[in-house]
Amino acid sequence: MYSKKRIAVLISGRGSNLKSLIAACKDPSYPAEIEVVISNNPDAGGLDIARHERIHTHVIDHQPFGNDRKAHERQIDATLQAHNVSTVCLAGYMRLLTPFLISNWKGKMLNIHPSLLPLFPGLHTHRKALKAGMKVHGCTVHLVTEEVDAGPILGQAVIPILPNDTEETLADRLLEQEHLLYPRVLKNFIEQESPNPTIDALING
Ligand code: GAR
Repeated sequence: MYSKKRIAVLISGRGSNLKSLIAACKDPSYPAEIEVVISNNPDAGGLDIARHERIHTHVIDHQPFGNDRKAHERQIDATLQAHNVSTVCLAGYMRLLTPFLISNWKGKMLNIHPSLLPLFPGLHTHRKALKAGMKVHGCTVHLVTEEVDAGPILGQAVIPILPNDTEETLADRLLEQEHLLYPRVLKNFIEQESPNPTIDALING
């Protein structure tokens, strides 16, 4: 068996995508394990999910840093380095990142966004899709680059918009797809990144 890649998950809220990643990582054949969960919000529900699973958690509250986003990110970066992770997954992490953290994790940081990017970057994506009269909606996992919600697309899932859909019903149905998409895309991302999985398998027995 080859060794699993150590990943970090950054959250700000309830952590349902974190939960789906945790579930995927429990499969021995899944190529990643969650080494650490970092939240900028001390009250994030996802922290309890991680603690329950005995995953390391760090609260790095942005508020004491005021406008000094870089100082906040320096602490996040130091935590990621200390845990020796290879990949960072943003899962409902609702802070805009500065070029400091983005460039340090270039090509190694993924995000899930609740729209079919490049449509509807930013907030209120379900409202925007309904308002635009879309017949389909979806979610995207992409690499994080300096332009918000605009990095290379790694995977997408699509759902129909039904005549009676509201923001809430749409969000709920899309979330189910997010939970399937993120683990699948992360797996593909990691396996393609590995230069030679066969050799890894031999070395690690
Ligand atoms: C998810 O829908 C995710 O796509 C979205 O926040 C929600 C987090 O839910 N992310 C963004 O909007 C990022 N721009 P969760 O905490 O239950 O995973």
